[in-house]
Amino acid sequence: MKGIILSGGSGTRLRPLTKMTSKQLLPVYNRPMIYYPLNTLLKAGIKDILIIIAPDHAGNYLNLLGSGKEFGARFTYEIQDEPKGLAEAFIIGESFIDEDDVTMILGDNIFADDFTQEIKSFEKGGRIFAMEVPDPERFGVVEFDGDMQAISIEEKPDNPKSNYAIPGLYIFDNRVVDFAKNVVPSERGEIEITELHQKYLDLGELDVRTFENEWVDAGTFESLHEASILVKNKLDKNMII
Ligand code: G1P
Repeated sequence: MKGIILSGGSGTRLRPLTKMTSKQLLPVYNRPMIYYPLNTLLKAGIKDILIIIAPDHAGNYLNLLGSGKEFGARFTYEIQDEPKGLAEAFIIGESFIDEDDVTMILGDNIFADDFTQEIKSFEKGGRIFAMEVPDPERFGVVEFDGDMQAISIEEKPDNPKSNYAIPGLYIFDNRVVDFAKNVVPSERGEIEITELHQKYLDLGELDVRTFENEWVDAGTFESLHEASILVKNKLDKNMII
């Protein structure tokens, strides 16, 4: 299992903070934001990690994270020149992923849960997660039937069919690289990750697991603040880095 941390984008919603550094390097309580998704991967035993970054402030990542040796891991870096969508990570990462399966986590997603078991037990298909939130229209949304089987997936719908948001942690088998290459860009010009979920759903190979502990997408001032509180109160004591 390889790991990808997607840490692209220009963080426009967090200006002026993101004029001086990348969103995913901003402080969240006592660490740079990216430490938390990195911790999630390292805890699950993933040692070979591709960090995909935007061109601005790319040098800051090297200064902070380096080769990965300090973390007992090996880091590879790639640049995402423009924010063309989350699914592009699997195209950028094609040679890195090689013949392996891959877990991707977004550089601004902070989880209180431990996903080691979910990652280690993965065998085939796609495995994503879902959590009930008050503002599902901000996220990818999954609709379940009465047996909690996923029946539809939509990216930031105006009228969400459920309150279940899909967080930025995705486990896919090696076919994801080819699937990503065939995604047609959406109206906003992005290769949407939800198209990949849909592909695995159509194949009957999408495993959607609900979880109830806290998760924060720290992309706004409000959620950045929330993230610091989450770390201070819960996560700090369980960090391995
Ligand atoms: C992205 C995805 C969305 C997902 C979210 C999780 O949205 O497109 O499906 O629910 O990450 O953080 P973004 O944060 O890029 O708006």
